[in-house]
Amino acid sequence: MNSEPKNSGTPAGDSVQSVWEAAYQRFETPEAEIRKFIARLREMGAEEWPRNAEVVEIFCGRGNGLHALSQLGFARLEGVDYSPALLARYTGSAKCTVADCRALPFPDSSRDILVVQGGLHHLLELPSDLERSLDEVVRVLRPGGRFMVVEPWLTPFLRFVHAVAFFPPTRAAWGKLDALATMIEHERTTYEQWLGQPEVVLNALKSRFRVERCSTTFGKLRFVGRKAD
Ligand SMILES: C[S@@+](CC[C@H](N)C(=O)[O-])C[C@H]1O[C@@H](n2cnc3c(N)ncnc32)[C@H](O)[C@@H]1O
Repeated sequence: MNSEPKNSGTPAGDSVQSVWEAAYQRFETPEAEIRKFIARLREMGAEEWPRNAEVVEIFCGRGNGLHALSQLGFARLEGVDYSPALLARYTGSAKCTVADCRALPFPDSSRDILVVQGGLHHLLELPSDLERSLDEVVRVLRPGGRFMVVEPWLTPFLRFVHAVAFFPPTRAAWGKLDALATMIEHERTTYEQWLGQPEVVLNALKSRFRVERCSTTFGKLRFVGRKAD
């Protein structure tokens, strides 16, 4: 793992960050998360992507998305996240770098596919940090390269999940709901900012990429776009 100093995008306070990371780790087992990521990647058309593509997962956390990509047959894998603690939990063969995804540590037009699953909604400032991050994705992708995004989206299903997760009896009875509620409590500012600006997010994506897939159902934005040839 490459290690570079944390950047100013780090959420305020190490203790807040470690409470969030602990809740994230008990939300689901790595095996369950890898199965979820494999299903999502298939849903987004990853079976059709060339297996020799150079793929980077940004905001890769403990790297379960990288394991999912590896299990689908992708071997030229890299990951970027600014949490050394989460990256240290990754045990696969991808080259992982501690860096801020608003300034990616790659040359221009050097990678084929970039993937983010549940990372963009952690950005502190909208739209400026989102625009910086997406401009970086465009810079790093080769012409025609793909960008896949899966992020939370405020649909009726997500409103229902929030209601159940914050209802004290259900939260107390089900550890997974308590972990979800704890994560939301500790990322509330960025999470609510993200969910509250759907047009800003969609415009930022659609103005930079040719849309291959885009849906907003069951609490998720699922997007695949191509950089111009
Ligand atoms: C919900 S986690 C993503 C989980 C990931 N998909 C996985 O498989 O573990 C969000 C991640 O974004 C990272 N993060 C937030 N802001 C970042 C930034 N500006 N640059 C890099 N990583 C960032 C956090 O450290 C965290 O690991």
